[in-house]
Amino acid sequence: MAAIPAHQFRTPLFDAMVNLAEAKKVSFHTPGHKSGKGISTRFRKFVGSKIFAIDLTTLDEVDCLQKPVGVIKEAQELAAEAHGADRSFFLVNGTTVGNHAMILSTVLPGDEVLVARNAHKSILAGIILSGAIPRFFLPRFDADLGIAVNVSAEAAEAAMQAHPRARVVTVTSPNYYGIAADTRAIAAAARREGKILLVDEAHGPHLHFHPALPTSAVDAGADLTVQSTHKIVGGMTQASMLHLKDGWVDGARVAAILQMLQSTSPSYILMASLDLARMQMATEGRKLLAKAIELAEEARARINRIAGLRCLDAAQVEAWGDFRLDVTKLTISVKGIGLTGYAASGLLNTEFGIQVEMADLFNVLVIVSIGDRRDDLDRLVTGLEGLARRSATTRTGQPADIPAVPPVQEARLACSPREAYFARHALVPLSQAAGRVSADIITIYPPGIPILVPGEEVSQTAVEYLQFLGGRGARIDGVLDPALPSNGAAGVAASEPQVRVLAA
Ligand SMILES: Cc1ncc(COP(=O)(O)O)c(C=O)c1O
Repeated sequence: MAAIPAHQFRTPLFDAMVNLAEAKKVSFHTPGHKSGKGISTRFRKFVGSKIFAIDLTTLDEVDCLQKPVGVIKEAQELAAEAHGADRSFFLVNGTTVGNHAMILSTVLPGDEVLVARNAHKSILAGIILSGAIPRFFLPRFDADLGIAVNVSAEAAEAAMQAHPRARVVTVTSPNYYGIAADTRAIAAAARREGKILLVDEAHGPHLHFHPALPTSAVDAGADLTVQSTHKIVGGMTQASMLHLKDGWVDGARVAAILQMLQSTSPSYILMASLDLARMQMATEGRKLLAKAIELAEEARARINRIAGLRCLDAAQVEAWGDFRLDVTKLTISVKGIGLTGYAASGLLNTEFGIQVEMADLFNVLVIVSIGDRRDDLDRLVTGLEGLARRSATTRTGQPADIPAVPPVQEARLACSPREAYFARHALVPLSQAAGRVSADIITIYPPGIPILVPGEEVSQTAVEYLQFLGGRGARIDGVLDPALPSNGAAGVAASEPQVRVLAA
């Protein structure tokens, strides 16, 4: 194992913030709470006072995210080195803003972009903002678990060859369930086909730091990679990073786009958490992750011994093709105990005090991280045992079949997502939307994979798919809630979700 460079123990941004706070200068600048003196007493009582002393603004001592020249620049350089990138950018609006920035800095209006359809809606939002034309390629789906596995390198390469004009290809890897695509092979194919590879690695900020985990996208050769440091390692919520590998993407353009998209008042607390999370991963990530992997693997084995439950493992993922599993994710199928994932998640919460990351029709998803202890996993396993016992008597009725494949392969683009999103529109009940052109991104959330994107003709199968999952507890994003006043009838609640479609 290579020695840890001494400078990776440094935390230049956090140190500068602490020094400034301790200097106790008198502040006549934002934020208005003035180091917490003006903050609500209730807030201070709960969180203590120190956090407010480092809730700073752009000052010489702590640098400026929009144009870093001092400690933020240094912190970003350390992050780039730690992740094996040539340049890294701190993000304060999550991977969401990173995905917008990746697209906006690599395409022009009208350019074709290849998009693996299991994309997060923020990729689609980037496409709407940019005016690009998406060309989708499909992930493999598994009917038994009811999930999108991920895209194969073969499918990605075939899409690249089918669309020689596309300049850019985007993939999401690992996906929410921790299933990684073969980004190394996809990066090699992108090079051969002369395309830029963008990877949404929201769920993989830890991959680079342990050899038992799938290869990180930066190591695989992606040109731009976004990671939610806050999702899996020590960043605070909203703190993410965008990494660049030199060669095909103009770093100055990425910086300029980020200046346009990010706040001019970024949270220093979030940025400090990125500085510290990088230091932690670079200096002790391997040890911390080894523990998380061990706890997750132990829990997986115990869960697989509970009658009726099944926890996805690496062997099954590898049997699907060129995919790898981040074993810290536990995808637990509750099909065998007669519950939907949504119902199981609710019961785990209310009856066992266990909050999972996500539920879908057949599964609940548990994230095991460097923050977990053996006791936490014991509680999870005990809760799942209780759930299995309980549902042996009270099965809430779980559908035998799910339309295994979301109806995305049927979708046809009538116009660009940008044109559709900003076109004159009408609201129609979901049941009457077939045949119209969607003006919104419609997703089942989580995991937020678009079933319809703006500009796509709504198929009857898509309507039925949304009705089917909506009726079983899934949250449909991008439709108007039936509890809200419906189109043109102020104050009158609609009886079913309303969909924004292009005006006739
Ligand atoms: C695959 C994927 N990409 C992007 C995002 C958005 O990330 P963030 O919440 O950091 O903005 C998510 C969030 O769940 C995600 O699952």
